[in-house]
Amino acid sequence: MSRVTRVITVEPGRPDPAAIEEAAQALRDGKLVAFPTETVYGLGANALDPVAVAGIFEAKERPATDPLIVHIAHIGQLNLCAAHVPAAARKLGLAFWAGPLTMILPKKPAIPDVVTAGLGSVALRVPAHRVARALMEMSGVPVAAPSANRFSHPSPTTAAHVLEDLNGRIDLILDAGPTEIGVESTIVDFTVEPPVVRRPGGLTLEQIRTVIPDVQDATGRGSIDVPQTSPGQLVRHYAPRAVLTVYEGEPAALVARLGADIRTATAAGDRVGILAPEEDLLALAPVIASLASAGRVEVQPYGSRRDPERAARELFAALRDLDATGVRAIFATTIGPAGLGAAIRDRLVRAADGRVRRA
Ligand code: TXA
Ligand code: MG
Repeated sequence: MSRVTRVITVEPGRPDPAAIEEAAQALRDGKLVAFPTETVYGLGANALDPVAVAGIFEAKERPATDPLIVHIAHIGQLNLCAAHVPAAARKLGLAFWAGPLTMILPKKPAIPDVVTAGLGSVALRVPAHRVARALMEMSGVPVAAPSANRFSHPSPTTAAHVLEDLNGRIDLILDAGPTEIGVESTIVDFTVEPPVVRRPGGLTLEQIRTVIPDVQDATGRGSIDVPQTSPGQLVRHYAPRAVLTVYEGEPAALVARLGADIRTATAAGDRVGILAPEEDLLALAPVIASLASAGRVEVQPYGSRRDPERAARELFAALRDLDATGVRAIFATTIGPAGLGAAIRDRLVRAADGRVRRA
């Protein structure tokens, strides 16, 4: 599977057409091309080319049972991939595409089984990123693309993250700098009625409810990621090497519990990391100060509770950076369950393999 991975730098807002054409040609030739979307970087192949798509699974070491998202250039291409589009899906697509929304719809036979892991449905998304859209328009094919990370690693928000995981395994990376949203798209399943949110993401539940008031929320009840092989089961995902635990609760109790647990861990000799929004780090400052001098605590902020967009944007890079310091354990806090907080919480709980401590 060894390949030479080339990186082409492009301007996010005004990508050079020659660079895009080169990547588009690579896709038509059956090659693997990583490209930026507004959520995270994707690893793309021509969705209509089963051999090329099989290469995605090989490069990522992703189980063949885990279906891919098919990216299309605009809502007009829905009917090329979906056998039936319920009125509510069309309404949601018109409201939020291009954007961080993926819809699961009954699939057309033209979509190869390898893309959908043999399911009768297909996940479809129109990304908003200029580079992604230009790539799909120029290639003229739907693009199957999961996040461009090794299976079970955090999703990549920079080209450097993609290289870290996939160098020598893919043909090309379009590097347009860090992604804007930072967490993956929200997945809404329209094969059931009423529709169900399968994965919280860059489009919030609150936003979806403005268009589909009766949408159901499967968040926190499993069913996200590898839904067909392990319904309701929490899959370890976004997994750092360190043992990660999520802490939640009222501010005072949270700080007390966290502080006590961090002291216990460091007293046992472990070097630990704290992954938290700025407010929580500020509240923990006395604990951190008493331990940092001994080099036992690595502190990694991700955004702030007051700025959920920034928290989402910084989350995955913060997780990667903190893990790279080699800490044994990571203590993480969330920005709460509302809005983008739902997606952040979901990713952290998965990274924690379900370990949540309520203070
Ligand atoms: O923002 C995103 O969604 C990024 C960018 C690149 O578009 N993509 C992404 O893809 O996050 P991936 O493969 O990492 O996550 C897609 C999820 C997987 O959990 C997969 O199991 C689920 O979507 N999925 C795909 N097709 C499905 C289907 N037909 N039914 C149920 N779940 C499906
Ligand atoms: Mg992924």
